Amino acid sequence: MKQNLLDDIQNLLLLGAGPSGVAPNTYHAMSRNVLGHLDPYFLKIMAEIKHGLRELFGTENKVTVPLSGTGSIGMEAAFVNVIEKGDKVLVLENGVFGNRMEDVASRLGAVVTKEEFEWGTPVVPARVKELLEQDHYKLVAIVHAETSTGVCNPVEEIGRMVHEAGSLYLVDCVTSLGGIPVEVDKWHADIAYSGTQKCLSCPPGAAPITFSDAAMQVIENRKTKVPNWYLDMNMLTHYWRGATRVYHHTAPISMMYGLYQALYNILEEGKENCFARHMAAHRRLVEGLERIGLELFVAPEFRLPDLNCIVVPEGITDKEIISELRDNYSISISAGLGPMAGKILRVGLMGYNATETNADRFVSALEEILRAHGCLAEKAA
Ligand SMILES: Cc1ncc(COP(=O)(O)O)c(C=O)c1O
Repeated sequence: MKQNLLDDIQNLLLLGAGPSGVAPNTYHAMSRNVLGHLDPYFLKIMAEIKHGLRELFGTENKVTVPLSGTGSIGMEAAFVNVIEKGDKVLVLENGVFGNRMEDVASRLGAVVTKEEFEWGTPVVPARVKELLEQDHYKLVAIVHAETSTGVCNPVEEIGRMVHEAGSLYLVDCVTSLGGIPVEVDKWHADIAYSGTQKCLSCPPGAAPITFSDAAMQVIENRKTKVPNWYLDMNMLTHYWRGATRVYHHTAPISMMYGLYQALYNILEEGKENCFARHMAAHRRLVEGLERIGLELFVAPEFRLPDLNCIVVPEGITDKEIISELRDNYSISISAGLGPMAGKILRVGLMGYNATETNADRFVSALEEILRAHGCLAEKAA
């Protein structure tokens, strides 16, 4: 290696679907001296991480820990621990991540019913009620904040129904934790997971997850062993809990320092203040986009504040916008995923970067690009 590529990494403003910007003190935290994974001081840090995660997840669940890996490991861990071959699973799908859930559950031999809802609109509780009356499912799964469309699903209302039906309830909170309220206990959610690289404003690499006592009982009483050694919660809990800690796998120490600092930052700001900051940045963004005549993909009442989807205007492609923003304005945003590719742009106002100033900086850059291409709507031109 002749030249160190790391010397030339651009300082981009990350306003995509994740990873989001990282606070300087979180970067600093990750450069601290590495301790052993069973060192008593590191155990203290672990205890605080569990406490912070319970606070943000809105839960008293004893088993609330970060897994080693990105958000998808949270999804894998959720299904692999509770599902056994032949179990019935209902996946409520209105985007890419609902589809991923179906894939993960099917690979474990679950009998999956995937109910599809129109992308860009939320899951419809009345339809879920019908499905729960028609059949009994071991597990019902939904994505709280669907990152592929920018829709927030009515997880609380659906949680009540799932609870009454006596099924386990799994909620993906990857794009919601830390940005909008998450209330695992109030929603009757049995399992919820997230990722560090969205509203927690930490680099990608850990997946916070929480299991209710009911979910843990199901895991403890499985007929067969959890088919994935690394993610077996029966074993992992011996490292994360209890008086005598037992090595399972080497914790990613520096990642844990980063997560600790990210949680510290949010709780110091106050989680309600943090949610309000996300909402203020979102409102500012929407005002700016409307001023320059752009259309948002999702109706106002279903929009996520932290992930905004803009319909690509006529006369320019998503690729042109994304590359000009990056090369000329040092702003990184995301393209549409799957069937939304080419149709929408995804703009994240997540964590550290969720500010009105960043919303303004993005809108004015976008306005200049659209003006230069002659495709600003008339009233804005
Ligand atoms: C809603 C949702 N679930 C799961 C994932 C998967 O997370 P990761 O890419 O960190 O593995 C993502 C990633 O964007 C997501 O947005």
